[in-house]
Amino acid sequence: MKVVITGAKGQLGQELVKVFDDEHEVTGIYKDDLDITAAGKVKDFISSIKPDLVIHCAAMTNVDGCEGDPDMAYKVNAFGTQNIAVACQKVDAEMVYVSTDFVFAGDKDEPYIEFDATGPLSVYGKSKLAGENYVRNLLNRYYIVRTAWLYGEGHNFVRTMLRLAEEKEYLEVVDDQVGTPTCAKELAITISKLVGTGLYGTYHASNNGSCSWYEFARKIFKLKGIDIEVKPITSDKLGRPARRPAYSVMRNFALESQGIYVMRDWEEALEEYLEKG
Ligand SMILES: NC(=O)c1ccc[n+]([C@@H]2O[C@H](COP(=O)([O-])OP(=O)(O)OC[C@H]3O[C@@H](n4cnc5c(N)ncnc54)[C@H](OP(=O)(O)O)[C@@H]3O)[C@@H](O)[C@H]2O)c1
Repeated sequence: MKVVITGAKGQLGQELVKVFDDEHEVTGIYKDDLDITAAGKVKDFISSIKPDLVIHCAAMTNVDGCEGDPDMAYKVNAFGTQNIAVACQKVDAEMVYVSTDFVFAGDKDEPYIEFDATGPLSVYGKSKLAGENYVRNLLNRYYIVRTAWLYGEGHNFVRTMLRLAEEKEYLEVVDDQVGTPTCAKELAITISKLVGTGLYGTYHASNNGSCSWYEFARKIFKLKGIDIEVKPITSDKLGRPARRPAYSVMRNFALESQGIYVMRDWEEALEEYLEKG
């Protein structure tokens, strides 16, 4: 199968290239090669390759950056996704669109399933949801895969915590946002299991379980044997520009009910990542 992966330099893109490279002919796209906001170029590029599958991971992922520059956020996350979907339509390719737990408002007290109503609080969440809607409206053969709190190769919370622990005497981490840390490598494997099924639709795909960012930080330091004080603070005290959902835990209802894949507990996945990294 010919597979195109956008955002191939990103955390998830890198893992997808590794997973799909074993069995498929993979073209990973970097922003320098192809800016997804250029509709004509995207169409020409995809038409020249004629892939069977496009996995679209490229996105403006800086949540506060999106809040500060909504035009750019919609340009990349909404229109960029529209461009990819239209290009897939043209060559009759299947599409995977990677979306986010931030499409939810966070006012539930049990994990969100795929049938729950969305209600994004931030520009990032709104622009990613707009991307989902383009995919739904333009294509029949698509998988929308919502994930959360990703860590892999690149800039992420785990690496930031480990760096800050070397620089500071204590850390303050928010305790009023609960979600699920998700290993990019495991998500890439999950996507590889999903795409063969032909069971098109929307999927939640995060590791199992939940924690706050504060609990996540404490677990990282415990597993690494780092002795540093971590103080819980509120999101209000941190004062970030974008509002985040207080509770964005997702249940992988469709993946598990359809017998596609069961993702591991977040603590187990984190332990493996820290051992190898
Ligand atoms: N990170 C998370 O916690 C998280 C949580 C939920 C969902 N997601 C979703 O999961 C997907 C993968 O996330 P990630 O963490 O792997 O992201 P990432 O590491 O930030 O990678 C995103 C990639 O997209 C590329 N990109 C940005 N703008 C582009 C453009 N205009 N044209 C082409 N490429 C462009 C970036 O290239 P440059 O580096 O050159 O700018 C980068 O390589 C994204 O769709 C994201 O919305 C992420």
